[in-house]
Amino acid sequence: MPFAANWKLCLENNLEAYHLPWVHPELCAQSPLENHEQFLGDNFAGQITLDYDHSSITGDAFSTVATWPGRSAEYPTLYPNLFLGLQCDHFWTRIITPVTVSETIDSLQIYYFDDNASDPKLGEVRAQRTAAWKQVFTEDQGVVEGMQRGRHSPAFDGGRFSEVMDAPSHHFAQWAARRLADPAGTQRVSLRV
Ligand SMILES: [Fe+2]
Repeated sequence: MPFAANWKLCLENNLEAYHLPWVHPELCAQSPLENHEQFLGDNFAGQITLDYDHSSITGDAFSTVATWPGRSAEYPTLYPNLFLGLQCDHFWTRIITPVTVSETIDSLQIYYFDDNASDPKLGEVRAQRTAAWKQVFTEDQGVVEGMQRGRHSPAFDGGRFSEVMDAPSHHFAQWAARRLADPAGTQRVSLRV
């Protein structure tokens, strides 16, 4: 899927969850915003939801991981360009490839834990699952491309990070700024971001 946007805006979008109620109302119904938590690591950050209803799209067509923790799902962004979506009955990867400063390719792959997932009888539910995620990422495409256009607005002043909701986005901005200053990552670079 092509995005007419800089790759870093794709990461900003994937790192925060507060756009869910407005951009992804159907996904938000399965995974309410109030049940999301944030996490930060050395070279990754993301969201975890504690109340993901995996059966709302495909029922119980695919077997689940027996040790999966409750109704949780995790969405880590591994810097610089790999998104993971980990659910109890399937997971996806999105590889974010910069093409130009304002063009990015988002490559989606969906995987199942179920040995029988490739059975032709499950083709229809696999297609439903794929279509549901593609709808979510197409909804993101609209707002990310809007962010790109907004960068050229005379009203754009750099924006503000929310201490409550933007910790992962701020974490990535600091990581990217450090890497721009020190691409090999061999020095300790102190920046005010
Ligand atoms: Fe989104």
